[in-house]
Amino acid sequence: MIDDKQLTAWLATIFVSLAVIFLVFPVPGFGGTGIGHLVGIVGSLLMLMTLIYPYRKRILDKKGRKNPLNPHIYYGIVGPTLVVVHSGHKFASTIGVVVFLGMLLVVLSGIVGRFLFKKVNRSVREQKKEIDTLHDLFRQRKTAISREDLERYLAGQVLYEKDEAETDAPAGEVVYRKCRELQEIAHAIAEGEQAVKTFSTVKTVFTRWILIHIYLSVFLFAMLLVHILSTFYYGFRWL
Ligand code: HEM
Repeated sequence: MIDDKQLTAWLATIFVSLAVIFLVFPVPGFGGTGIGHLVGIVGSLLMLMTLIYPYRKRILDKKGRKNPLNPHIYYGIVGPTLVVVHSGHKFASTIGVVVFLGMLLVVLSGIVGRFLFKKVNRSVREQKKEIDTLHDLFRQRKTAISREDLERYLAGQVLYEKDEAETDAPAGEVVYRKCRELQEIAHAIAEGEQAVKTFSTVKTVFTRWILIHIYLSVFLFAMLLVHILSTFYYGFRWL
């Protein structure tokens, strides 16, 4: 069975391949036929259905599992694929070409957003979880060491390793090891927090990237509306 990620990759490949095929081997005239119009209408309706996701997210306040992104992606790839077939890649109408290019950019920006944004998101979440666990461990281990021992260790005065000749050497070694372990946990926390900072910066970049996707979508639907209205105005060729 193929999973969602593979399905998205397959659909995206089909979409991009079709777009390229239609650029190289145009089928002018198909979009104006009865079937051509039907394919275009179904494709446009599917594209409109991509708006269910932002509607549920922003208006109904459904997020996360309550509002999965996958249907959005499927409508957003299958719809434009049908529109590519509908277009037959005919350069006759300027507005049709603008819709086509706008759609191409929306889908491509969506695909990039889907793969990169999700990757970054998951990494931040995982890192934060790891840091929380390390914080818990740090707190737990800290209670087993006295403040004085820690201060001596940090000042480089803890020489328990060299205290072997002394009678309390084994106990001293244990304290030394505990201090060192605590220091290593602290280092791991600092490194993790640094990594989260870097990921957060990248995440900001992708949040902006998705904004581009949204602006392009607004542009696409505006152009689509003009395309549909002009088709009504100039008439259906097959009528
Ligand atoms: C006609 C095609 C598409 C349209 C009109 C469209 C439109 C939109 C809109 C309006 C949003 C904003 C959601 C919000 O309110 O935050 C959005 C988000 C998003 N879209 Fe699309 N999209 C399309 C196709 C795709 C495709 C093909 C993919 C991926 C393969 C995709 C991936 C995404 C991702 C990752 C988000 C961000 C989700 C989030 O941050 O909650 N989109 N899209």
